[in-house]
Amino acid sequence: MCGLEYRGYDSCGFAIKDNSKIGLKKTKGKINLLKTTTRPGAYFTLGIAHTRWATHGVPSFINAHPHHDCKKKIFVVHNGIIENYRELKAYLKKKHHRFCSDTDTEVIPHLIEEFSKRHSFFEAFLKTVNMLKGSFAISAITSSEDALFFARKDSPLIMGVAKEGFILASDIPAITPFTKNIVHIKDGWVGRISRDKFEMFNFKGKKVRAAAEKTDISLGAATKQHYAHFMLKEIYEQPHVCARLYSFYVHNTRIEFKDLNMDIKFLKSLKRIFIFACGTAYHAGFVAKYFLEKICDIEVEIDVSSEARYRRFKLGPDDLVLAISQSGETADTIAALREAKKRKAKIVGVCNVLGSTITTESDGLIYTLAGPEIGVASTKAYTAQVFSLLLFSLHLAYLRKSISTAFFKQCLSELRSVSKHHKTILKNAASIKKIAKRFSRFGCFLFLGRGINYPSALEGALKLKEISYIPAEGYPAGEMKHGPIALIDEYRAVVCIAPRGELYSKIVSNIQEIKARKAKVLAIVEEKDREAQSLADAAIHIPSTKYSQISPLLVALPLQLFAYFVAKNLGCEIDQPRNLAKSVTVE
Ligand code: G6P
Repeated sequence: MCGLEYRGYDSCGFAIKDNSKIGLKKTKGKINLLKTTTRPGAYFTLGIAHTRWATHGVPSFINAHPHHDCKKKIFVVHNGIIENYRELKAYLKKKHHRFCSDTDTEVIPHLIEEFSKRHSFFEAFLKTVNMLKGSFAISAITSSEDALFFARKDSPLIMGVAKEGFILASDIPAITPFTKNIVHIKDGWVGRISRDKFEMFNFKGKKVRAAAEKTDISLGAATKQHYAHFMLKEIYEQPHVCARLYSFYVHNTRIEFKDLNMDIKFLKSLKRIFIFACGTAYHAGFVAKYFLEKICDIEVEIDVSSEARYRRFKLGPDDLVLAISQSGETADTIAALREAKKRKAKIVGVCNVLGSTITTESDGLIYTLAGPEIGVASTKAYTAQVFSLLLFSLHLAYLRKSISTAFFKQCLSELRSVSKHHKTILKNAASIKKIAKRFSRFGCFLFLGRGINYPSALEGALKLKEISYIPAEGYPAGEMKHGPIALIDEYRAVVCIAPRGELYSKIVSNIQEIKARKAKVLAIVEEKDREAQSLADAAIHIPSTKYSQISPLLVALPLQLFAYFVAKNLGCEIDQPRNLAKSVTVE
């Protein structure tokens, strides 16, 4: 269960079967609380467990999974959302079922109980599954059978086949410590696992063939080492991640994407790219949009997946979709990808977890190679996404001959230096810490950037609000005068991203406008900067680059460290901030 805490950590629980008795333990809060109430060394052979990210009902003991039927003989854990649970609950209440939680999940054990009156347990389970609308990965146990039952529809579920037995989980990284033999359970499958075998069926009850495959995914070293938090450790990993990506994709002066799986003719004639992503991955895509438009002479449309999936823009076989996701399991991005697939667009997943739903459903892959990211606030996965997407843009521009060879080589050499620049920035962490201390007293932040650093401003604001809970807004600096400037007074703090480049003088003017209204300015500037720095109340330096369009890769680190130190000053829980989850598998 600990392997899945990144999917939610507001409550958790488990049910284990010992002979015909099923014992239940649950708690509000994180798994370590559950450990303290659990008998050490307890031995069992059949059980289900769950960590929750609340959708229906507050985080509480009552709403924590597993949920059970009236007689406490059937126990169920569920990921996803049962959309028709109100109707089902009303139906079950008429049949005198008693409910104790506010969750949508609780209808499932009661439905199975109801149908078990006239059917075998498996038939009742199958009948239940067919009545559910929405998305679900379910597993259930009952006191009457020595078996585990499961079903999947639009929520991830895989099964590991280990020497000691079988293990079901929402995704591969959770079970690689136990086995590398994985069965990919498909959407619309149900199954039964007993002591030494498993069987799988479609929702009509017809047997399907399911075989285990070996995965070469290893969990990697996901320990904090000497760092106070995973987030800090992951910030410090960024020079290595960028160096790794460079040597993986660049050979001499050639960029090669082995798993892209796209016809060169298609890439050369491509007119439009659509980018779908959520959260931090969306900001990485936004940086890529600027870069792709600038060097590939291509139209790029980007939207957050939860909007994209319902939009009716023209999308067809001539278009390329980039679905960006650290986890590869984000429900909205998967839904947007499937919508694009229906319309026959070509899909490339930009993903950090091999074997995840997005990597298996995409036509091609850009693997972001950041290694396991544990801190909920994404850091190294973001830089890895931006870095891979800049390489991809260069590759595309080279194929389409929209840039000169000299420019291509210059950009490559700039990208090779990113790792070195990261090390320089990280050496300066102590001064960022001091600045963060000075700025921690502000109750509201504005992050401003222009051009390719407008997405950096959005990401800087997101990092700060995610882990420190301070309201922070990212804005294109030129748009400030159309609204946000009303917020500015001596009690506000404004972070201005001002590396040199074509829009430098514009952002300097914006800083002047802010200073005229007495807010405190923190500027992110290049080493040799004079102008912006002289206006600001504090400045953080990044190394100078010849090509300003790669600056988002550098700017990201001071923004992450700033958010980290502010949150630390305020005593916030950095790796698992309230209300968030690392992998959001519901709409
Ligand atoms: C959650 C996480 C964010 C992440 C977003 C998208 O909201 O808290 O850090 O950026 O999901 O996740 P993905 O795995 O698709 O990149």
